[in-house]
Amino acid sequence: MLVLAQDALNAIEVQLLAASGLLFLFISRRERLTRKVKRPNLNLVIYPLGEPAPPLAFNHIWPQAKPLQNRTFDPCKWFCLMDYLQRSDEWIPKLGFGTSNLKGKEAEGAVEFALDVGYRHFDTASAYKNEQDIGPVLSRTEVSRERLFITTKVWGTDLSRDRFLPSVEESLRNLQLDYVDLLLIHWPHQEVPLEEALEQLQEAQHRQYARLIGVSNFTIKLLEETRRLGAPIVCNQFEYHPFLDQRKLRKASRDMGLFVTAYSPIAQGMVGDEPEVQDIAATHKVRPTQVALRWLVQQEEVVAIPKSAKLRRIRENFDVFNFSLSPEEMERISALRVRGLRLIDPKFAPQWD
Ligand SMILES: NC(=O)c1ccc[n+]([C@@H]2O[C@H](COP(=O)([O-])OP(=O)(O)OC[C@H]3O[C@@H](n4cnc5c(N)ncnc54)[C@H](OP(=O)(O)O)[C@@H]3O)[C@@H](O)[C@H]2O)c1
Repeated sequence: MLVLAQDALNAIEVQLLAASGLLFLFISRRERLTRKVKRPNLNLVIYPLGEPAPPLAFNHIWPQAKPLQNRTFDPCKWFCLMDYLQRSDEWIPKLGFGTSNLKGKEAEGAVEFALDVGYRHFDTASAYKNEQDIGPVLSRTEVSRERLFITTKVWGTDLSRDRFLPSVEESLRNLQLDYVDLLLIHWPHQEVPLEEALEQLQEAQHRQYARLIGVSNFTIKLLEETRRLGAPIVCNQFEYHPFLDQRKLRKASRDMGLFVTAYSPIAQGMVGDEPEVQDIAATHKVRPTQVALRWLVQQEEVVAIPKSAKLRRIRENFDVFNFSLSPEEMERISALRVRGLRLIDPKFAPQWD
């Protein structure tokens, strides 16, 4: 299995695995979830012993199995892998599961299924009003807490000194967690001074409510202000997909050492209708939405969090680590930014870059 893992992975992950020495093979066949759905997948998760090291999820082995071609064993054709990004001592899965607009039983079922497929990174917010649906799923999953990466956000009107920490405490209660892995300011708010909001964000981290802290929907000016105030943020989450030019904001975020979480990463499904993306998808025998997600996660510091309520799509959106785009294909997709399509632009949004 070690040999197999080394074949399957490259560069740093392999070195980390080799360094960690022993691998612990954990095979789980779980029948509990969504019994109505035919789920032939056997999840194979290889957990390297010794931290820090990324857990490596090998999913859907049987459905993806193909005959060996040219006698060259290419495990990437057989397994669905997950890439990770590292910040501080945290390993952040490059693909997460977005949960906005999912509520009640639908949220519960979708998150359960996503866990089963192999997602380990979940994005929620107090504003989504679904933390209480996700919490019970997280508390009963067989996946250990250390293997999960949970993000939540504090809404703009709760950023003040008297409301911030109670909002986080309520999120934790609803999520049935002692801490989240990443806590974000959801939107900047004109009436609460940034200094006050950042002070509260750091206080939440100090109280160990969150391992990492960050912001969302921050512009370059706001990021610079945040840096001037010395808040140790690690992430800026903003709208990013092939139809929106975010080169300036990405560069500014990267220059400040932040990773980017791309929300609405498949332009709420619209990338599927784009001929250029369809053409590339046909070359790789994948779906256009997978191409858009691959384009994002193939960018070094970018994490993508697609949302779906449909089981087939939840699974499909996760399968983006078993093919890669050439530099030319990456550029063809990047060129679609001329469309300038911004999907999330509420009245209270800052002046975008
Ligand atoms: N920080 C912020 O201010 C902010 C703002 C917006 C979003 N977010 C986060 O980002 C996540 C994702 O963004 P989003 O929900 O706006 O957009 P998205 O993930 O780009 O797209 C979701 C939409 O696309 C459809 N879809 C999903 N997979 C598909 C597939 N394979 N083929 C075709 N259609 C597909 C979904 O429909 P079905 O559900 O019917 O499949 C849904 O309508 C959110 O859930 C949330 O966690 C954060």
